[in-house]
Amino acid sequence: FPCDVIRNFSIIAHIDHGKSTLADRLLELTGTIQKKTSGNNQQVLDKLKVERERGITGLEYSFVGLYFWLMKCATQTVKAQTASMVHTVDGKSHLLNLIDTPGHVDFAWEVSRSLAACQGALLLVDATQGVQAQSISVFHVAKERGLEIIPVLNKIDLPASQPERIAAQMQSTFGIDPSNILQISAKTGKGVEAVLQAIIERIPPPKGVTDKPLKAFLFDSLYDRYRGVISLINVQDGILRKGDKITSCHTRKRYEVTEVGIMHPEEVHTGTLQPGQVGFIACNMKESSEAHIGDTLHRTGEPVDSMPGFQPTKAMVYAGIFPVDSNDFIKLEESIKRLTLTDRSVTIQRESSTALGQGCRLGFLGTLHMDVFRQRLEDEYDANIIITAPTVPYKVIYRDRTVMISNPTEFPDVTDPASKVKEVQEPIVKASIIHTYPTEHLGEMMDLCFSHRAEDLDHRYLDSGTALSSRAILTCTLPLSEIVTDFFDQLKGRSSGFASFDYEDAGYRASNLAKMVFLLNGKPVDALALIVHRSAQQNIGRIWVKKLHKVIPRQLFEVPIQAAVGKKIIARENLSALRADVTAGLYGGHYERKMKHLENQKEGKRRMKKFGTVELPQEAFFDILGSK
Ligand code: GTP
Repeated sequence: FPCDVIRNFSIIAHIDHGKSTLADRLLELTGTIQKKTSGNNQQVLDKLKVERERGITGLEYSFVGLYFWLMKCATQTVKAQTASMVHTVDGKSHLLNLIDTPGHVDFAWEVSRSLAACQGALLLVDATQGVQAQSISVFHVAKERGLEIIPVLNKIDLPASQPERIAAQMQSTFGIDPSNILQISAKTGKGVEAVLQAIIERIPPPKGVTDKPLKAFLFDSLYDRYRGVISLINVQDGILRKGDKITSCHTRKRYEVTEVGIMHPEEVHTGTLQPGQVGFIACNMKESSEAHIGDTLHRTGEPVDSMPGFQPTKAMVYAGIFPVDSNDFIKLEESIKRLTLTDRSVTIQRESSTALGQGCRLGFLGTLHMDVFRQRLEDEYDANIIITAPTVPYKVIYRDRTVMISNPTEFPDVTDPASKVKEVQEPIVKASIIHTYPTEHLGEMMDLCFSHRAEDLDHRYLDSGTALSSRAILTCTLPLSEIVTDFFDQLKGRSSGFASFDYEDAGYRASNLAKMVFLLNGKPVDALALIVHRSAQQNIGRIWVKKLHKVIPRQLFEVPIQAAVGKKIIARENLSALRADVTAGLYGGHYERKMKHLENQKEGKRRMKKFGTVELPQEAFFDILGSK
């Protein structure tokens, strides 16, 4: 296949708008897979089962989509959606390469990288639901990369579909001419032939040169238990052959290509990949962490310029993971390591805590990513774990240096001038919320944003004129730390599950933050330290102290539970002592003995209070950190 008959494209779609169904129809129409008489594919069925079991709705669809995307990386049972197909028009065969993109905000960086392997994209929008926040951000990335966008409205077979209205929405949101929008039903296959035609006619072919040095772009990877990492690549220039010795521009590691082929949709060994082609290679890469999305591969000894703007994935949310039973640490660490073989984006570091013992500090791309990882650890490795409150990476600026801190225990006491901290900065994001219906909720949504320290708030309607029932997009900047706690849940509650949410990195800004520590009987508990904004410290302190009061078992002595910022105590509860009845068994008339017993008990308690440490069972941590 010379370059001029190759088309490389992705499908940009919000979760559940029909990406997998459309991919199946395209594969069927081109004869790449057999048409199934039942009309359903296993993937959809499986997914629905998980959704039913968990009772997942609305916003949480993102969770399911992400889970499946990670599962796809972890196992070979869910097929990759990167697939090559051949379509013949007027006797001329075209090689169409569909490149999969993860449909979740946590993976914004990877989306942008997989789009770099394409020259065009189908922007698929559900004609019953309309434009969603995540499609907007991916659309902008695609536009910036100069991709040809083919707008497609799906599910027009449904009575609830409103193609005209949604087309007008696409015009106002994306500046798309409604006459360019294709209307299809991926389920029945109506209009899908026109999609294939548009791919060939509207998307430009890749520009590759055969006799230039080999330059291949790595845009995704899968993990195979037996063969190690399988990388998905796009050959930009030169020819890649089985047996070639190649080098990674990023790690400078060398490999020998042992297998080369295309996904059709299963692996088909071709022995070579030509310029413009998309396919897989196996090359003795043992760990997923070696396969950097966005990396450039070249023939060893023939260096090329790497693709611009390469950045390794960046963890944005950190949390400590500890075994409930500290004897299980080795097993837990082993399980985490095995799990990260299939998920290259998690960073690991050992951590030890006086309260929780030995554990690991893990870095994730976002909170949903963290939830999915935790769930997999529990499901697949039967791990009984405690996970500390999530923290974002802060910049602590001293006169002569800047330190990145992602563990609250390492955060300096900024209230103490001796700490010499000049400024603390926190990561912020640009958030967009699209709420579908009804618009009365706009005020509530704004309150929610302001209560999470939003700035530069703006909103506009996506449908022109019909303010009462139309959809609005609300944009603002928010501290990332505000999103990692309860923002999603509250948004879902206040919008009755109708809002869609997306965010992108917007750098750092100075903020009035401090470390809050919790003291039990005057002793700080390291695993419970938090970094909080000064405006919220009183509130958070009170809530957490109450929570602790509820879950800590009473001791033989009174235990003060305190929240402190610097030297200042900002909240306190007293856990009263368990009263052992020392006078039981004494009968009336023994007044003096009784008093003596009580005196002794008091003295004993005083001593215990002085020397005694509070026994905080791991289950209590589980209750505190597990409940929001
Ligand atoms: P993720 O894999 O989670 O990203 O979802 P997706 O975007 O791939 O959506 P998927 O193809 O799984 O479709 C979601 C649901 O919509 C499924 O129940 C499909 O059967 C249904 N669906 C997809 N296309 C159509 C369509 O044209 N008409 C109707 N009626 N239903 C459709």
